[in-house]
Amino acid sequence: MSPVVTQTSPGNLTQFEYLALNSPLNLSDGHARQELTPTQGRIIDELPSLWAEAVKRPVEEVEREAHRTYFELLGQRSYPATDGRVLSCYSSSVAMEIFARSLATATDAIALVHPTFDNIPDILKGVGLRLVPLEEEVLHGGDLPADLLRSVGCVFVTTPNNPTGRVVSEQRLRALAAQCAEHGVVLTLDTSFRGFDTRAHYDHYAILEESGCRWVVIEDTGKLWPTLELKIGWLVSAANVGLPLAKVYSDILLGISPLVMSMVRRFAEDAAGGGLAELHRFIATNRTILRERLADIPGVTFPDPDSRASVERVHLGERTGLDVWTALREHHVYALPCQQFHWARPEEGAHSLRIALSRSASSVVKAAEALRSVLLAG
Ligand SMILES: Cc1ncc(COP(=O)(O)O)c(C=O)c1O
Repeated sequence: MSPVVTQTSPGNLTQFEYLALNSPLNLSDGHARQELTPTQGRIIDELPSLWAEAVKRPVEEVEREAHRTYFELLGQRSYPATDGRVLSCYSSSVAMEIFARSLATATDAIALVHPTFDNIPDILKGVGLRLVPLEEEVLHGGDLPADLLRSVGCVFVTTPNNPTGRVVSEQRLRALAAQCAEHGVVLTLDTSFRGFDTRAHYDHYAILEESGCRWVVIEDTGKLWPTLELKIGWLVSAANVGLPLAKVYSDILLGISPLVMSMVRRFAEDAAGGGLAELHRFIATNRTILRERLADIPGVTFPDPDSRASVERVHLGERTGLDVWTALREHHVYALPCQQFHWARPEEGAHSLRIALSRSASSVVKAAEALRSVLLAG
């Protein structure tokens, strides 16, 4: 059972997502819910043998293989493989909580990309940090203002961002890391959506390490493959990060299941053998289905034309996201109104809806048809 939401209308994005969990037309959360491909299905059939193997082998070995396969799949060859700097967590939110608690021992303020998924600001606020919005335009536009860097202990960037899909380019990351190094500010990246966009597959760790800045990266297997919430959030850090990440980790968990690590390794191997390109085509097709079904509706636009993330924002013109969400519910279709992504100024997201694309094509078609009729009706 999902936690009971006491207010009459849901508060945060996850509370909206709870309402969709039991619907066959749940296009709300960004978790992967499409059907397994035939080769992924065969990995699930292998689970008993993966279990038997995981029981026998040292956890460290199983974990190292999972790291290597996943990080190399996504171009992250320079990840710190050897000195205990990749901490495996049950999910990226757990990694985030560990990061936030650690950071709060060292600073009281953090600059955070705006907009972004609201559980990030909520977790950061939950440990008492003061949040300073870092607008996407400013982040991508050039050097960050020195005043901003002087006023915070950390800059936090989601790349590719959720919901916009915007990716920090190699050149921008290099400049950002240099600025953070110069100001002694921690640079933290949430790369949960990295797998969907090859523009985020340049070797981030090489750039971060070369810069000498104090960095943290949160990686996430959970958005990529439909593994029924069996996933890993990896909390990765610089040797000089100067935060008690390992201590806080030990306050919270001993480790994650070697079965999940083995399964992630097998999914990553399958992805490297062609599954990732297939997934990219699958998401692109779903995006095209959605855009084509809504293209001729007056006032409707797609604010993220270059996005390759597994979510798509739809700008609704004069209509509000909440009204359209309510009308869609009558068709048993669930999407996500966007106010809360704009954690500093929710009104900026009031006229948008986010549609999850990591669903079967038939679900996307049905949801797009329902959305079309709702939008044409009002
Ligand atoms: C960018 C980003 N980071 C982290 C999370 C949290 O993921 P999880 O619920 O698997 O912990 C989300 C959830 O959608 C997200 O969009």
